[in-house]
Amino acid sequence: MVKILKNPEEVGLEAARMLTRQLIHKPNSAVALPTGSTPLKMYKAFVKFTEFEIVELEDVHFFNLDEYVGLTKDDPISYAYYMNVNLFSRIGKVNHDIPRTDAADSEKEALEYEEKIRRAGGFDLCFLGIGIDGHIGFNEPGTSFSSVTHVAKLHSSTIERNSKLIGKVVPKKAITVGIKTIMNSRRIVLMATGIEKSKVMLQFLLGDVTPELPASVLQLHPKVTILLDEEAADKIKSNASEFHLINP
Ligand code: GLP
Repeated sequence: MVKILKNPEEVGLEAARMLTRQLIHKPNSAVALPTGSTPLKMYKAFVKFTEFEIVELEDVHFFNLDEYVGLTKDDPISYAYYMNVNLFSRIGKVNHDIPRTDAADSEKEALEYEEKIRRAGGFDLCFLGIGIDGHIGFNEPGTSFSSVTHVAKLHSSTIERNSKLIGKVVPKKAITVGIKTIMNSRRIVLMATGIEKSKVMLQFLLGDVTPELPASVLQLHPKVTILLDEEAADKIKSNASEFHLINP
């Protein structure tokens, strides 16, 4: 299902509503969380919802989708830092995991992370952002659809964009949950906002399913919701009847 909302705030609000509903329905859910600029509005709205105290958070298990390799534990570039500042320090104690950026053996860390997800029963709900090249998590174009959690070499365009966003050079490698692991989620919500995402949304929703555009694999998932703002939906509006993604 594709939902076109007015602006990034509305996208964040709707995503936070979906997370809250999931946790009311199943308090011990395993939930995958993304980073980047897009989910910030969702985290802000979710923090507000938790203040109503209608959601029990003690049994939820949050997993981050990815983390850079080779930083020190508290490096402000790390996604662990990002998650702490934007979500975890604001909602009290919750069970959350993220690959360790400072693990001595990142390949081993990736395998152990996959095992942790497996032990949690896979993701009940997986939130995703999308890169302008169609990457999800840090699964760059060309990544096998059968990949599980692994160490990924980032494309120069991703390094450049992410470095620009935070004003510091980001590492060249990351641990990312794989595409197969994402596809095993019982429900997926992808968020995209801003005009810079409008081209990739067109390719993703109307193009072929191909590892060259990792997000295109979501056309094959039985329960996916795409939340877009007006700008990200700019190029697809005129092709609305042709979406491959018509599932509930
Ligand atoms: C990063 C993250 C992705 C995220 C993407 C888009 O590379 N690893 O998980 O979806 O960027 O980020 P933004 O929301 O800033 O456009």
